[in-house]
This record gives sequence, C-alpha cells and structure tokens, in this order.
Amino acid sequence: MKFRKVVSVVGAGNVGEHTASLLALRGLVDVRMFDLPKKDGEKSIEPVKGKALDIQQMLSALNIDGKVEGYTVTPDGDGYEALKGSDIVVITAGFPRRPGMSREDLLDKNISILSVIANKIREYVPEAIVIVVTNPVDLMTYAVYRTLGFEKNRVMGMAGVLDSARFKTFISKEIRISPMDIHAYVIGGHGDEMVPLISISNVGGIPLKDTLPRERIQELIKRTQFGGGEIVDLMGTSAYHAPAASIVEMVEAIVTDNKRILPCSVYLEGEVARYYEAEGLCVGVPVKLGNNGVEEIIKIPMIEEEREMWKRSVASVRKNLTLVEEILNARSSL
Ligand code: LAC
Repeated sequence: MKFRKVVSVVGAGNVGEHTASLLALRGLVDVRMFDLPKKDGEKSIEPVKGKALDIQQMLSALNIDGKVEGYTVTPDGDGYEALKGSDIVVITAGFPRRPGMSREDLLDKNISILSVIANKIREYVPEAIVIVVTNPVDLMTYAVYRTLGFEKNRVMGMAGVLDSARFKTFISKEIRISPMDIHAYVIGGHGDEMVPLISISNVGGIPLKDTLPRERIQELIKRTQFGGGEIVDLMGTSAYHAPAASIVEMVEAIVTDNKRILPCSVYLEGEVARYYEAEGLCVGVPVKLGNNGVEEIIKIPMIEEEREMWKRSVASVRKNLTLVEEILNARSSL
C-alpha cells in the first residue's frame, strides 16, 4: 500500500525548486524533481539531483519524514519514466519572464517544451492530476489540457491563488489587519487585466469597499495587476516564493481533500462557460479542490463593473488562443 502521495515537479528552476522544498517541509507528500542537465565549463552536471539531495538533507535536519528524489531528463523527453506512480504533476518548466518581456512573448518556446512533457505525462501517469505553472499560464494550461486529452477536472493552472495572495498582502499592509482575515479573490487571466473582485472581498466579514476609499482600492488593484512585473523589475527575474507557496496550497487541497475554494485556471465549457461567457478556453475562476482535482467550478457573482473587467480579461486570453492552436496543430503534424 502506498502511504504517501507522490508529487512530481517538472522543472527545478526557482519556482520548481522552492515548490519542492516547501512541499517537502510540509511533510505531506514525497517529492520527485525533474530537470535538464547543465554545462559547467566542459563538464555536464546534474543540478536537479543535487537540489533533491539538499532538500532531503534539510528534512533530516528538521526531523521531517519524506522522500525527495531528483531525475535528470533530456529536452526530447528521456528520463521521465520516473514519473510513474505520481499522483500530481506540477509543471514549472519553461523560460521565465525577463524584464521588459510580456508573458505572451514566452508562448512559442514554452509550448514546445510543455508538449514534450505533456506527452510523457500521458504515457507514464495517465491518471495524474496536472498543475501548470509555466507562463503565459492560461494559454499553457490550455495547451497542456489539449495535448494530454485528460478530463478537464484533472488539469489546472496556478495563478489566482498567487494573485489573490498579492492582493491580500497589499490590503493587509494598508489597513493593518492579518491577511488571514482578508477574503479577496482575483479571477480572470493571469495578466495585467486580471480581475480582483471587490464586491465580494471582505475584511473580517466587512466589505472591503467599506474599509477603504475607492481610490485607494483602485491603487491596490493596479499594484496587484502588475504584482508579477513589480517583482521582475526589482529582482531581474520572476517571483518564486509566493508562486511556490500558491502551488503548495493547491496541492494540499487536492491531497488532503479539504475542498477549499481557490481560484485556478481551468477549461470552461457548457453551462458554466455560458455563465462566464468564456467557452473553450482556460481562465481563472474559483473552484472547489479535492481528491478529484477540480470538483466544482463556482459561479461567483460579479457586479456590472467587474463583469466588464472580466470580459476584457477573457478577451485578452482569447486573443492568443488562435496562435496557440496554430502552434499545437503544427506540432501534431510534425
Ligand atoms: C508572477 C509570475 C509567476 O506573477 O507570472 O510573478
């Protein structure tokens, strides 16, 4: 009998490494890490194995149980047999954003990388739940969903948890109340037009709009929308602590079956797509997470102003969907 769930993290860059580390620290799951080898001068080295070993030793130092293993893979997809037995696969592989680069610039390169990985997931772990993190995340989630051919409840993108955490952070700093008592959802595409839902956001049950002047709230919304960019500009590379923590939040909800409601990027079709006016794409909406992945898509109420923002956000995701289709079709005819 398998005691622990196994979470595989594909891509051990900043986000992948911190995700593996945080997952291991929580002590809930065994972790496997996958990444390419690196060149160190003339020598080929295997950083992913070193990182896994380092994290494993951290667990010993802290008296935490758990297995952490690293596997070196190739760009063509060799080495992914070790995915076998994974319950969840988190995909963080791909190029990160650099200063001045939009998330869409990454599209072509990252679809190529993710297609290889998705094909291996389908081959070795056809029952797994897949969390996509690579940017532009809504489009990448769609590309992975299409490539995998899994049921839609088993494929989701991480963004809304991160964006909501940022929004909560800014509100919390502004009004000096713990983020634990702040409920704020950010939905929509993970781009500059993401939609913080003010009408239902509250601080200890009191509507946000009654705790801060409208102009202040608008400033916090702007800062949230550009929250990723703010960090890229400061650090010269994408954020990774809060993104990793957001992934862990999703993994824990799935593994512990705690039925949390978290905003995730999921494929919309049918009745719920009609409600959201967003048929046939992946975009961030609140969902209930449990053992089966996305167990329910919540139809969250929006006031008119929010629905207008929502439509613009969906349109900005849809804008590049044709391009994604073209890249996917070109790849499948290779
Ligand atoms: C960010 C990147 C992960 O928002 O998109 O920080």
